[in-house]
Amino acid sequence: MENIVVIGGGTMGNGIAHTAAATGFEVTLVEVAQELLDRALSTVSKNLQRGVDKGKMTASERDAILSRIRPTIDMQSIGNADIVIEAIMENLEAKTQLFARLDAITKPECILASNTSSISITKIAAATRRPEKVIGMHFMNPVPVMTLVEVIRGIATSDETYQRVEDLSKRMGKTPIEVNDYPGFISNRVLMPMINEAIFALYEGVATRESIDGVMKLGMNHPMGPLTLADFIGLDVCLAILRVLESGFGDPKYRPCPLLVKMVDAGWLGRKSGRGFYRY
Ligand code: NAI
Repeated sequence: MENIVVIGGGTMGNGIAHTAAATGFEVTLVEVAQELLDRALSTVSKNLQRGVDKGKMTASERDAILSRIRPTIDMQSIGNADIVIEAIMENLEAKTQLFARLDAITKPECILASNTSSISITKIAAATRRPEKVIGMHFMNPVPVMTLVEVIRGIATSDETYQRVEDLSKRMGKTPIEVNDYPGFISNRVLMPMINEAIFALYEGVATRESIDGVMKLGMNHPMGPLTLADFIGLDVCLAILRVLESGFGDPKYRPCPLLVKMVDAGWLGRKSGRGFYRY
């Protein structure tokens, strides 16, 4: 499997393209507009430069990696892909529309993978005529640094598709872990209730934000506390994922803390908006 296509060059897509190129693959990166492509490539270039500055790679290695990324805004040009990794915005309609289109454009043996963090792989697969070739490849942010790929099997995903994606993840230097398709998979099903509980503890005045984060850092050896992590992920993203868990399981144990809802209403979305549980 050599011909990799990444759709969407945002936070995740440019990291996936970077990682594929850095591990020797030729990768095509698709965006909707030239300026977004330029921005994605300049982000990859900047991130690679950091490696050069630290003496981890030479300038010619950086250039070789960049030259393996083929940027394009022409979706029709990807017909020869062996695998497409989708990393567009987290929106069911946008994803099902895109997968129906990919199903029409790509050759029948091409695998269609989604980097979704919370949308059902089974649902995305149902928009295609090849649900056995649709799978989740859930990379973590920042992609070049984080080793996990949560590989999610939809109800119809075949063993062969799983094997090919497991193999590709390893060749990209990652550690794949197999998970079945239920709301939140494993990563967010376990992480988001913990973050939500930390927010409830703050809301109820059990401890300050620093104390809550401090207990989890020092006591549980987490590299950052749950409130800091929530700010990093984005409070709107945390809320959206909790809603997916709440509606997907129909279980009130996933009810988002009212403080989280209020902060999102206020536009306090964490690091990206300058204010969340902390100020940036
Ligand atoms: P983002 O908003 O940074 O990037 C999405 C990009 O996709 C944008 O640049 C947009 O122009 C492009 N795009 C939209 N429609 C397109 C189309 N039809 N063709 C080509 N490009 C298109 O989003 P981000 O954060 O990179 O998230 C992407 C996916 O990865 C989402 O499904 C998200 O849930 C998932 N994810 C995000 C993580 C994160 O920490 N940001 C972590 C793990 C998964």
